Formats: sequence, C-alpha cells, structure tokens
Amino acid sequence: MSEFDEKALLERTSKAELEAKSIEAELDKLTNGDLSSAVDSRLDQLLQENEKLKHRLAIIENAIKAESNLTPGLESRKRPKLITDISSVEGNVCLLDELKNIFEIAITSAYPNLVDPPIVLTLSGNNPKFGDYQCNSAMPISHLLKSMNVSTNPREVANNILNKTPTSPLIERIEVAGAGFLNIYLNKKFAEHVLNCILQYGVRPPPVKRERVIVDFSSPNIAKEMHVGHLRSTIIGDSICRILEFLNHDVLRLNHLGDWGTQFGMLIAHLQDQFPDYKTCSPPISDLQAFYKESKKRFDEDEEFKKRAYSCVVQLQSGQPDYIAAWKLICEVSRREFQKIYDRLDIRIIDRGESFYQSRMDAVVKELKDSGFLEEDEGRLIMWGDPVTHEGIPLTVVKSDGGYTYDTSDITAIKQRVDEEKGDRFIYVTDAGQYTHFVTIDACARRAGILKNSQKIEHVGFGVVLGEDKKKFKTRSGDTVKLIELLDEGLKRSLDKLVEKGRDKVLTPEELKKAQEAVAYGCIKYADLSHNRVNDYVFSFDKMLDDKGNTAVYLLYAVTRIRSIARNAQVSETKLLEEAMKSGFKLEHVTEWKLGKVLLRFPEVILKVANDLYLHSLCEYLYEISSTFTEFYDKCYCIQKDKSGNIVDISYERLMLCEVTAKVMEKCLEILGIKTVSKM
Ligand code: ARG
Repeated sequence: MSEFDEKALLERTSKAELEAKSIEAELDKLTNGDLSSAVDSRLDQLLQENEKLKHRLAIIENAIKAESNLTPGLESRKRPKLITDISSVEGNVCLLDELKNIFEIAITSAYPNLVDPPIVLTLSGNNPKFGDYQCNSAMPISHLLKSMNVSTNPREVANNILNKTPTSPLIERIEVAGAGFLNIYLNKKFAEHVLNCILQYGVRPPPVKRERVIVDFSSPNIAKEMHVGHLRSTIIGDSICRILEFLNHDVLRLNHLGDWGTQFGMLIAHLQDQFPDYKTCSPPISDLQAFYKESKKRFDEDEEFKKRAYSCVVQLQSGQPDYIAAWKLICEVSRREFQKIYDRLDIRIIDRGESFYQSRMDAVVKELKDSGFLEEDEGRLIMWGDPVTHEGIPLTVVKSDGGYTYDTSDITAIKQRVDEEKGDRFIYVTDAGQYTHFVTIDACARRAGILKNSQKIEHVGFGVVLGEDKKKFKTRSGDTVKLIELLDEGLKRSLDKLVEKGRDKVLTPEELKKAQEAVAYGCIKYADLSHNRVNDYVFSFDKMLDDKGNTAVYLLYAVTRIRSIARNAQVSETKLLEEAMKSGFKLEHVTEWKLGKVLLRFPEVILKVANDLYLHSLCEYLYEISSTFTEFYDKCYCIQKDKSGNIVDISYERLMLCEVTAKVMEKCLEILGIKTVSKM
C-alpha cells in the first residue's frame, strides 16, 4: 500500500466516523421527542443506516491495521538518520553500519510493501573490481517478489534499489554488476577526513548503548591447580572485558572461584592435624596442591579421617568460627598463588567465589521448591529445563545428603546477577565441556522466571590445550604443567630469542627486560586468542615465538618498526599534527588507499567481536593491517636519504599514515591484553 492509499483510507474512516456520530446525535434528539409514526419509521431507517456505517467503519479500521502491520516501513520502522556532511563525522564512525542504513532506506523506498526486506551488506573480496563493500540484497528480494508472483529479476531489483539510494559523503559511486550485485566504492575524501580525526583525537570507540555486562572468567578452584584450561579462560575472558570496557560498557569482572564444597572438610581435618596452631600463625602450605593430594589420600584410605572430614564440612557450613578461620586460611594461600599469575599477565578480576552465594542458595532452593520446580530423584532434588520432554540433563539442586552443588551455586549466581547486579549481558568463559551445564542453567533460569525475554546466558566455550604431540598438555615427565613454570619458560625462551638476535647489545637492561616480558606474555596470549576458540589448540613455544607469520612477535616488531620510522626522521607527533592540520591526509598511491581503507574498518571489527566474542577476528584484522602496511612501505618512501645517509625529503602525509597505523595496531593489541614496547 502506498502512502497515498493509506491517506485516502484514513480520510474515509474519519468521514464514516463523522457520519456515524451525526446520525447518533440525530437519533438522540429524536428518541427524546414526541414520537409520531412518521418519526418512528424514520428512526428505524436511521438505526439501520447507523448499523451499516458502524460495520463499514469496523472493516476500514481493520484494513488499516492489517496494512500497517504489513508495511513496517510506514509506521513502526524509524528511518535511520544518515550522515550528510563529512565534517560532522569523527574517527569512530562504523562504515558498515552507515552503509546498512543507507541501503535500508534505499530498499524500503524501492519496495515499501515488503515486510522486513533483507539488507545484506558485506565487505568485498580482495578483487578491486568488486568495489569496497557490496550490497547483495537484490538476489533474495527478487526471489521474494517472485514468490509473490511479481515478475522481475535481480538486476532489475538492483537497479531499482540504486535509483532510490540516497547520496552519501561515504560513497564515491555504486555499480550494478553481475547477477545483481551492487558494488560500492568508498569516497577517498571521506576516508582522509576520518583518518585525520584518528590522528588528532586518537582511536575512539564507536558509540553504542551502554550495558552492564557480567563476565565470569578464570575461576580456578581453591587448593586445586590452576591448569591450562583456566589459563585460556583467563586470557580470553580478560580480552572480552577489555573490548567491552573500550566500548564504555559497565563491566563486572568476576572470578567464580571454587571455594566451597565438601573437599574443604578433608582439607580442614588435615590442617588440624598438620598445623594445630593454624589459628595463630599462618602454616607454610607452600605447596597447597601437595597438601590437597595428601588429604585426599587420607580421605580415601582412612575411615576415621573420612568421618572427621564430613563433620568438618557440617561445622564449616554452619559457620563455626574456627572452621571458618581454617577455611579462610586455605583460600588465602590459594589466592596468593593465583594472584601471582594475574599480576604477571596484568589481569584485573574480582574474587567472588561460590561461597558468596551460600545464604542466597537457601533462599533460591526454597523458592524453587515452593514453586514446584523441583522433583525427587533417588533422594536428590533435581530440576529439568523442560519438565515435559526431559531433554538434556537436569540440575542437581540438592544432593541426597542435603548439600548443594555446582548447579545450585550457578542457578543462584544467575539470579543474583539479574536481580542485584542488574546485568544486561551474562557471559561465562569456560571450556567447551561445560556447554551443556550452561544450557541447562539457562533453561532452568528461564523456567523459574529468573531470565526474562531477551536475557540469556552467553557461554564462551573453548577447546582443550594440547601438547605438540597433539595429546593432552603435559610436561616431558608426564606431570601436569604448572602455570607459573610455564610462564617462566616463556620468559626464558623469549630472552633466548632476543639474545639470539643480538638485541641485548642494543637495548638497555630495562628495555631488554620490558621486551622480554612483552614478548613472553604477549606470545602466550596471542597464540590463544588468534585461534578460533572453539577448536582445540596446540601449545608450542617454537611456533608462538616465531617472528614470521601471525604471531605476537611479528606484530610487536611491526609496531616498533612503524614507530621508528617517524623517530628516525626526527619528526615529533606535534609536528605531524601541525602538518595534518595544514594539508590533511592524501591517499594517492594505491597501497596508501588500500591501507587507509583497512584502518577505517576498525569500528566494524570491534563491534562484531564485542557481539560474537570471537577474538580471532580481531587478530586476523591486526595481521591484515600489518601486511597491508608492509605492502605500502615497500612501495612508498616515507623519508628519502642521499648516499651519505642524510635525509633529503620527508613525506609528512605518509608519516601520518604510519602514525595512524601504529595507533590502531596498538589499540588492537591493548584490547588483546598485549603490551607494546617502543624498542625491541
Ligand atoms: N571453577 C570452575 C572450573 O574450574 C569454573 C567456574 C565457571 N563459572 C561458573 N559460574 N560456573 O571448572
């Protein structure tokens, strides 16, 4: 229905309404007066007419309602506001989103009758023949129209869209190509302006609606080892927090420590025997894991000890001060060990272990019980996500001995995160093996009305870490690898590498140490983040310390090299800014233009990653910047020297491009939690 049709219908409706009203008024008058037979028959006539009009009015009203449902373009859909003026744009504009807005307008005005037409925009491939971006909506729209018996073809649709496309300062030109592709070529002036903004104001986040995001990550278990799986969770989780914080979200970084449960009974019982005066002086449990193993052994072999361990749990859970003191002590020793890892890797996180939910668990269990969600099963109380199909596995909310479980603390935690923390997003970073657990928590939380509507649990799963032999990651002697030792080995190997390259002769001891740490921790993080997290990944120091290929070492070198270009030309940042104010950017050479366009994609890459939480796309982008920079640097001189090495010419425009490249790369590395160094 066209806008014109709708107007006509509305006019008819209000006319009918008026008519009906006036008849009703006449009727009112008549029924109040003296009724002759003539009046009587006139009344009947009018009553009939009134009924008819009411009927017509209802039909017209329904038709309008139905029509407006069909054409959201007219009522519910808000026309996006477009960029009309280059100077109103800043460095943080997301080109892809703006192009989507432009084509949404084009498509809805070319085809106003289509409900939610597909707005398909993608980056074009490497072939410059296909433009920079493509709108690929014509094919599915043509398909849709054909199914509605409209005879058309994709090229015709593409041309219709093109005719309705509003002009935009982003776009230089659009071509219809092949089967109905719309190839979009970006406007260089626009790109130059955006890059200039980045140079002036730094790399800023694209604007988004601020959300409260709870990220549950790292989360090792007290007294047990923090293994490579926890290392992955720590690295991935921290990077997720960083990207969300960069977008100005309100992020709560939570360490859901395994700090509560029956194993504490045996730990406390063992502590009582080994360090009877633990209450007054801190026992030297330097190796808490060994301590855990000893107590476990006693628990399995010694009936007496086992009984005592159980009674310790009861005492602990009822809040007996001595037992709480012992428990706190054990947690403290463990936390100190974890903190060493966090400090080295520069991870901020707030401890909020399972014990935090202790009192809340009682309330939640009661609530679930009272609402009839819990079923008895061999003495346990369980809850199904779907009580009818019994699909998947149920949560064990209360064990047969009355104790709580991992499930109980997680269903309670999600309630706390929704009700008290007022979260908008709930992210959990654990190994893929816990996928079903979180699906069940989500389903049960939904069933219990804890999660509403679009609220959901986002499980960020990842694969296992393998050794170079593709088997479970172990030391040569077959023991599990201690994380601290792993980090130490990283440090040693990174130093070897730097020395091998003779860097110890060029750098000061402080510079060398900084480079050593940046390389060691950077390479461990990057190796993890640059692989699609759902896959298993092979841990190999040799590969991650390689200075060729998509590695942290390669990227760190690339950034220092780019930084050194301006340094060698002795051009300060202030000087560059002055030049930029004067002449702005000029992306003349094809490789300059290509690099410029890659840099412009930063906001769209960030928004995608913040949404799907796949960090390897950010790593791929970083690598793409670096290789596009190399192409540019090979072809375009930034400074020219004469035979005796004196600088004879400086291209400020190109140095500006170097500067923006370094800035964007540094921001990406920062989001990945990788420290850059000015020299290495
Ligand atoms: N402590 C658990 C483990 O080591 C991870 C906890 C993840 N977070 C959660 N809310 N369940 O496997």
